[in-house]
Amino acid sequence: MRAADIPEDITEILLTEEQIHEKLAEIAAQVAIDYEGKNLLLVGVLKGAVMVMADFARLLPGHIAMDWMAVSSYGAGTRSSGVVQIRKDLDTDLHGRHVLIVEDIIDSGLTLSWLLENFASRGAESIEVLALLRKPEAMKVHVDCRYVGFDIPNEFVIGYGLDYAERYRNLRDVAVLAPHVYS
Ligand code: XMP
Ligand code: MG
Repeated sequence: MRAADIPEDITEILLTEEQIHEKLAEIAAQVAIDYEGKNLLLVGVLKGAVMVMADFARLLPGHIAMDWMAVSSYGAGTRSSGVVQIRKDLDTDLHGRHVLIVEDIIDSGLTLSWLLENFASRGAESIEVLALLRKPEAMKVHVDCRYVGFDIPNEFVIGYGLDYAERYRNLRDVAVLAPHVYS
C-alpha cells in the first residue's frame, strides 16, 4: 500500500519508495567497490530489514550469500530496552567471513551494538553495518555504521518493513506514525 491509502494513520511521508531505491542503488555501487573480490555475507535482521535486504541484495552485481537473524529487544511499545534475545540464530558459520549486517533502523543503537559484539565473538573476518535509517537524536550508544541511508528525526516511523504492532510493513514509503495510533 501507499501512504495515500492510510492518510489518518500518518502525519508525514518522510521518504518515498523512489527515494529509498535511489539511495540503495548508491550504497550498492559503493559496496560493490568496497567488497570487490571478497565473498560477502549479508545478514538481515528480521523482520524489519526484509524489504531493505530484498531490494539491496538485487542491486549488487556479484555473488553474495544471505542469512537471517531474528532478535527481540525486550520492552513495551515503541521503546527498545537493550536486553536482546535471539529468536532465530544464523545458519552460517561466521569464521573468516566478510559480514555486512543489513538493518532497517538504528534508533537507540542498543540492538546493533549487542549484535556487533555477538558477531565479533564468532570469528568473522570483517563486520560492517548498513542501516537504511538512523535517528541521531535517539542514539544511546555509539554504533559504527559504514553505510547509512538517511538520518531522520526522532519520531516513530513505519513502512518499508517497519511496523507498529506488526502493521504497516507493506507500506511502500517510510512515514511518521500519527500519535493517536499508539497513544
Ligand atoms: P534500537 O536501535 O533502539 O532499535 O535498539 C531496535 C529495533 O527497534 C525497531 N525500531 C523501530 N521500528 N519504527 C519501527 O517500526 C521506529 O521508529 C523504530 N525504532 C526502532 C527496529 O526494528 C530496530 O531494529
Ligand atoms: Mg529491526
